[in-house]
Amino acid sequence: MNIKNVMVIGAGQMGSGIAQVCAQAGFNVYLNDLKEEFVQKGMGVIAKNLTRSVEKGRMSEEDKTATVNRLTASTDIEDAKKVDLVIEAAVENMEIKTKIFAQLDEITPEHTILASNTSSLPITEIAAATKRPKQVIGMHFMNPVPVMKLVEIIRGLATTDEVYQVIEDMTKSLNKVPVEVEDFPGFVSNRILMPMINEAIYTLYEGVASKEAIDEVMKLGMNHPMGPLTLADFIGLDTCLYIMETLHEGFGDDKYRPCPLLRKYVKAGWLGKKTGRGFYSYE
Ligand code: CAA
Repeated sequence: MNIKNVMVIGAGQMGSGIAQVCAQAGFNVYLNDLKEEFVQKGMGVIAKNLTRSVEKGRMSEEDKTATVNRLTASTDIEDAKKVDLVIEAAVENMEIKTKIFAQLDEITPEHTILASNTSSLPITEIAAATKRPKQVIGMHFMNPVPVMKLVEIIRGLATTDEVYQVIEDMTKSLNKVPVEVEDFPGFVSNRILMPMINEAIYTLYEGVASKEAIDEVMKLGMNHPMGPLTLADFIGLDTCLYIMETLHEGFGDDKYRPCPLLRKYVKAGWLGKKTGRGFYSYE
């Protein structure tokens, strides 16, 4: 199967990054979101990243123009009729995702593969909302998408080897490194990363050290590029909480219990960098 046309659903920080790398790799991309302003915001981020790449000498002006020309803004889900692959990067909410997948199943041609960029939700359950579970798969990109090499590829219970292979090859063509993972809560990345972030929040909550000290220990002591509290702000505290809840519910073990301080911040609307305030202030 040959993938040429792709739709990315959700023009937020993940979706716009995925659309960018797909367009850069030569795919025609529809960047879809509910409102024109969301799509234009995502397009703006892509344009800024591409301009920076030209300035840094990583990309020619011609390649930038060609990349931009391969991107189409879309607020009509019916555009999915024209694509071979949909990568869904909407909010982390099972109800919303299953609704989108059921709708895509009706709209898209028979051969179209439906992928989700979910960071922890079961692919098998998302696939069950469609009549094509063999063609449903997880493609979990890391943030910031244009920079990070990894894509976790998650097989649902029914995903065929052929579909897996197409997605693995496509991921390589994006200049990313695919890693195969089975469908269990948090996959590999967030099963390991999120409990560490949650533990950093507990460490702050219990007054063991200041936020700066916790981040400094992990940056200088473990050579992490960002401290865990800065990273949590960067990912989004609502996403961190949602993933911890998915792990807690999925494994039923209290070692995954979300820290009360994380819940409190999310309730306050302190969601990290995107809202200007999380563990740190970005205003
Ligand atoms: N989009 C595009 N490019 C970006 C970017 C973004 N959002 N943020 C940084 N970059 C680029 C910069 O342009 C810069 O490129 P140049 O060298 O060409 O200038 C390069 O990345 C390095 O950036 P900076 O010098 O500004 O800063 P840095 O050295 O601290 O790197 C970072 C930034 C790559 C984000 C680094 O801090 C890092 O690796 N952080 C950890 C990221 C991480 O852990 N991601 C995984 C999150 S978990 C996840 O995504 C999964 C999930 O489900 C929650």
